[in-house]
Amino acid sequence: MIDHEESAITADQSSRTVAARVSARTLAGVRAARAYAEFYSDPISCMRRLARVHGECVRIEHPFRPASAAPTYLLIGADWNKAVLTDASGFRPSGLWPVGGREGTALQQLRKNFLVQSGAEHAHFSKVAAPAFNRTRINAGYAALSGIAGEEIRAWPTGPQVDCSILARRLIQRLAFAGLFGEPRCDHALALGSRMDAFHKDQWSRSSQFFRFDLPGFRYSGLLAKARGVRAGLFDWLDTPWAETDIHNLRACVAAADDPDGMPTSEVDKAAQIAGLLLASYETASATLAWALMFVALFPEHLEALRDEADRLFSEGASKEPVEDAGPLAEFIDETLRVCPPAPFLGFRVLKGTEIEGLDIEEGATVFLSVLLTQRDPEIYDDPWSFRPERWRAISPNTYQFPAFSGGARRCPGFRFATNMLRHALAVVVANFDVEMPVNARFDYRYAAVMQPKGALALAISPRGARKPSGSRPPLRGNISALIDNR
Ligand code: HEM
Repeated sequence: MIDHEESAITADQSSRTVAARVSARTLAGVRAARAYAEFYSDPISCMRRLARVHGECVRIEHPFRPASAAPTYLLIGADWNKAVLTDASGFRPSGLWPVGGREGTALQQLRKNFLVQSGAEHAHFSKVAAPAFNRTRINAGYAALSGIAGEEIRAWPTGPQVDCSILARRLIQRLAFAGLFGEPRCDHALALGSRMDAFHKDQWSRSSQFFRFDLPGFRYSGLLAKARGVRAGLFDWLDTPWAETDIHNLRACVAAADDPDGMPTSEVDKAAQIAGLLLASYETASATLAWALMFVALFPEHLEALRDEADRLFSEGASKEPVEDAGPLAEFIDETLRVCPPAPFLGFRVLKGTEIEGLDIEEGATVFLSVLLTQRDPEIYDDPWSFRPERWRAISPNTYQFPAFSGGARRCPGFRFATNMLRHALAVVVANFDVEMPVNARFDYRYAAVMQPKGALALAISPRGARKPSGSRPPLRGNISALIDNR
């Protein structure tokens, strides 16, 4: 079980202490250029290679302008995570969307949201959003959301190749809109969700990133238009009344928010906050659910324990209470988040020159922390490349050792909502369906702010008990196989 409270790393939990002065292994010239190129092509495997070859503290100079451009640091492990994540005013997260626009464009405005704010602005908005994430509120909405999850999942199609990535996204979008944003109307939620998806997809396309021309035929031009469409949709949505009984949903909190100086927040700023919150709410959780279903198919030996717990939960109709923190469902989701963290790394801009753990870091530098590699530290996780949900019975890592939801002042405020929903969704799926590997299955990941399935995540779905299980462990193909030991 994860220790969700912030706790100090004790000596026995982290035997690696950082020396008084640390000098990073520096890459320059051709080696820096190679690291940059690899990072753009696959940041996850790039970080893994750099850590394997150069260690846990790597400094990469700008390949072409080493004297004038600030370097990039790759820092790996719980100690570095703690040092960076507890310094909220020194580091600003790099955010969800890499492509900006001219000042005044919708594209530029949408990027200025909570996820990239720092200092007083960030602290102010944390307070604005806090009521929506309150534990009592989240638990009180559980029964209604479990109704939506049951209705949605029981209508899933069956067949030898069902794209579970699309199904997971649709389900989590509905749950997030209803549970966090006070929007239970399925068609409204999915329409806004698909507008956001198209915008997000163009943000992460290579052509938008490298050819920023506002000319017909260029994807960047389409991205500018999509940003305007998203912003217009959010203006309308923020104006729509919500159920008065749910005055603490995120949409209501943002609509009523003042800015840090007590002045009314502009419509443009409200739309930007909502855009960031929406994407943060479903992009991560839907990727997690898709990976969890892949693990159900890949490791069928866990199915019986998952089903036992799910059947107990549903023995008296829809469950009214969140799934417990300990037990097979919680362990399975935690292990999914450990092996396939939706945010495999965290990127930050250094706001002022600083020294952490004996390392001097320049103002303007970029710092990457690796969530994925921290969560494979053999000193914390035995046999770290294996998928073993039962490990969670014996370990209780703190948030810097298990940073799937980040840590410190920037800890994900949605973790409770997300874990409640993911455990519940998994329970409904295994209670109703058999999930198996299709013939010639192949699973690839891609990185687009989140590590998510590339293309379809096709699994064989059949009504529970309709087919005789094959019992054999299928081979794992695709780039995901580099992240999992599938003996
Ligand atoms: C499995 C699901 C989720 C995972 C793994 C996850 C993970 C994370 C991570 C790693 C961060 C830090 C990002 C960074 O520093 O760049 C973060 C931040 C955040 N997450 Fe989540 N998240 C999940 C679900 C949610 C949900 C359901 C919401 C609801 C709106 C949410 C809202 C946020 C917000 C607002 C932040 C920014 C916090 C801040 O900067 O202070 N997340 N999340």
